[in-house]
Amino acid sequence: MPVTASAPGKLMLFGEHAVVYRYPCIVTAVDLRYSVTVEQVADPIITIDTPVMRKYDQSFSAPIETILRQTNYPKAAAFVLAAVKQFHNRNPFDGGLSIRTDGPEVSYGLGSSSAVTVASIAALAEQFKVTAPLGEIYTMAVEAVLEVQGKGSGFDVASAVYGGTLYFAKGGREIEPLEVPDLPIVIGFSGDKVSTTNLIDQVSGLMARNPETVEGIFKVMNEIVWQAQRFLDLQDWAGLGDLMNINQGLLDALGVSTSQLAKQVFAARKAGAFGAKLSGAGGGDCMFALVDPGKKQAVCEAIEESGGILVSLDTGVNGVRIEPIQ
Ligand code: PMV
Repeated sequence: MPVTASAPGKLMLFGEHAVVYRYPCIVTAVDLRYSVTVEQVADPIITIDTPVMRKYDQSFSAPIETILRQTNYPKAAAFVLAAVKQFHNRNPFDGGLSIRTDGPEVSYGLGSSSAVTVASIAALAEQFKVTAPLGEIYTMAVEAVLEVQGKGSGFDVASAVYGGTLYFAKGGREIEPLEVPDLPIVIGFSGDKVSTTNLIDQVSGLMARNPETVEGIFKVMNEIVWQAQRFLDLQDWAGLGDLMNINQGLLDALGVSTSQLAKQVFAARKAGAFGAKLSGAGGGDCMFALVDPGKKQAVCEAIEESGGILVSLDTGVNGVRIEPIQ
């Protein structure tokens, strides 16, 4: 009997890049949901079918033994295969798997890889009737993501597992839910980015050349995360907007903003947003603006006129879950 699990994408609110160095960040889960359906099959073969493969009339199939020994997975199925390997390492099983993923074709850099990885592990645990507390799903999924990506803090995996809005620090040793309402934000996609790994490397190069200065920037980001928790709690949007603008300035100082992101950020502010910043690694992907409902229309128009694609999503949504049988 096939089982399906789903997990949300994420939007980084504050603290990107600093979080790679164990400083804290704040991330919220967004309702860009990815689901993974897993079914055991007798033959020791893994078959994977994703929205992109379906679009191009392709499919992936390989003996499970090969996958368990492999480290360099085909890109289109990499996160699912790494998830299967992590799960199998801890919970060996016989036979094969038929796996299907579903979700938005365009991810906007809002956490599709971590969501698919987390949903894969949850679906595998359900399929094999293995009790996997959220903490264990998180650990397996982080290892799978690191196997594919090589680098990363794990904040996106935590968001996909636990959902809501989270304080995440010390490489995942501290993960705390924050009581935050659906945020009055507008998201603008700026275009594809260079890989997250390259941007992490770029910042680590800057850090190697200017250790004290970059450490100083991270310390201010740390301060921003602490202040932001207070403003989120008070729903002080003007205060939070100021912090977004300061955080954006610091990301610019790290060299990860782009002229397209900056255009959208400045346009949103000019149209009356409380604040605006890029979200995630930078180098492309999304920015978001915090807006008063009365200014939302104007801010949306400003982002579109500056070349951004609007993405409308709820924040603070539920984390990984098993979906009812269809
Ligand atoms: O753009 P994304 O979703 O890949 O976010 C990366 C955020 C970083 O802090 C730069 C990396 C990380 O894993 O924390």
